[in-house]
Amino acid sequence: MTNVFASNPHGSVPAYPQDTPTPSPTARSGHEQVVFCQDTQTGLRAIIAIYSTALGPALGGTRFFPYPTEDAALSDVLNLSRAMTYKNALADLDLGGGKAVIIGDPAKHKSEALLRAYGRFIESLGGRYITACDIGTYSEDMDIVARESRHVTGRTVLNGGGGDSSMLTAVGVFHGMRAAAEHAWGSASLEDRVVGVEGVGKVGYRLVAHLIDAGARVVICDVSSDAVRRVQAAHPGVAAVGGRAELLARQLDIYSPCAMGGALNDDTVAALSARIVCGGANNQLAHPGLEKVLADRGILYAPDYLVNAGGVIQVADELSGFNAERATARAEQIFVAAKKIFALADEEGGPARRTADGRSWQVAGHLAGPLTRIRPTPAGPSVDTDSHSNSTDGRTRAAGKRSRRKAGTVIEACGLERVVLQEVEIRRGSTMCTKSASSVAGNRALFKAPHVRGGRANGARPSQGQAGKGGTPAQVQQRRH
Ligand SMILES: NC(=O)c1ccc[n+]([C@@H]2O[C@H](COP(=O)([O-])OP(=O)(O)OC[C@H]3O[C@@H](n4cnc5c(N)ncnc54)[C@H](O)[C@@H]3O)[C@@H](O)[C@H]2O)c1
Repeated sequence: MTNVFASNPHGSVPAYPQDTPTPSPTARSGHEQVVFCQDTQTGLRAIIAIYSTALGPALGGTRFFPYPTEDAALSDVLNLSRAMTYKNALADLDLGGGKAVIIGDPAKHKSEALLRAYGRFIESLGGRYITACDIGTYSEDMDIVARESRHVTGRTVLNGGGGDSSMLTAVGVFHGMRAAAEHAWGSASLEDRVVGVEGVGKVGYRLVAHLIDAGARVVICDVSSDAVRRVQAAHPGVAAVGGRAELLARQLDIYSPCAMGGALNDDTVAALSARIVCGGANNQLAHPGLEKVLADRGILYAPDYLVNAGGVIQVADELSGFNAERATARAEQIFVAAKKIFALADEEGGPARRTADGRSWQVAGHLAGPLTRIRPTPAGPSVDTDSHSNSTDGRTRAAGKRSRRKAGTVIEACGLERVVLQEVEIRRGSTMCTKSASSVAGNRALFKAPHVRGGRANGARPSQGQAGKGGTPAQVQQRRH
């Protein structure tokens, strides 16, 4: 893999180890487009991965994280963007799957200039990718990104957004947990159930509140003592333990991973006493096959991307003008969706995760046709979301500052079908490299075609309050139900 971040003439990029050019195995996983973004003036180094636009523009959050290596960042964004494709398809959204990572420590490297530079890269993709919050990014950050790009969700309510998406992520996980309880124990009640929540950040904190309201007994752990204190200040009855090992040593009914991905590895799965695993974290399975090990041990694993879809449901709702009531009602439907998947899995005699993967593929693959068909994987993701004239504050920007310099240079074939390097000057000192794995002609045809389900062209986002030919996503949803 060519290290596109290696050249740093101004020395302003944070000094992370630059790894050897090793092709990542996940690079062969069928992504439509992977974009490396560098802005030397602000120190921005980001990767935007679009797995599939078969169902619509790729929606997924931006993770701001101090990855130790560029390969680690690439691997994460490839896995996360694939998971978003499954998640959005299963949530019945007219949206494809993508994700972005910004390499750096948000506490040290986040700045308005960096976020705005990032926003210009998103804008340069012309709506193929729509961003939102993820670990290390917040609604206030999205407000800043939105000053440079229309293709931003997860903004603050003051700026026309739905606010922090963890609100409905937690709602969805809670209802997924109720569905799992009903499937496992014959009742959706969580009263007196012992639930271990690992990670009480944005999602975990809100989930704990729902669990306490439902009468569950909650045990938490978090690497941040501040996060633990915040929960215990709000809910004095919540017990805290030192870490995952201690949490799993407790006699739990439900284990809820709500921190980073990869919580379910060989060791944790072996140590689990819980009957159910249901949490908000993305990509909980450390490697494929663990869903089967869990099922063989009689543990009901609620697929992460099924139950944590509340957040993407919330930010997707922003695309047609945020309506909290409508979005909440849809997130609560995760209860019904999860029950269906569990029942179907029983019929098929396999883990729920496999059934969920199959269902996602049916939805996205059916619409994509042969050009961008999503390949089903045994376990899905394996490790740990044109120039325009108006910004959200109504100011007109000098779109003319942007100019395309060079495109279409084939540089290498690192496991992708085709790798194309494009250099685009966004502002002086900024470069973008696009690694496109797709049939370019195929994609163009796809993007020209009217959107099958929503009646709007893929990649074209209706402006707020406006509907495409087939109506807003919400109207389309209403017709469907
Ligand atoms: N925020 C959303 O809307 C949303 C939506 C879908 C999925 N998710 C996923 O949910 C997870 C949590 O997201 P968030 O928004 O709450 O992030 P967050 O950064 O607000 O919270 C994560 C918490 O986990 C803690 N943590 C990190 N490593 C830990 C470890 N090893 N053990 C225990 N605690 C640890 C952190 O200290 C933090 O308090 C992530 O995997 C994210 O991708 C979030």
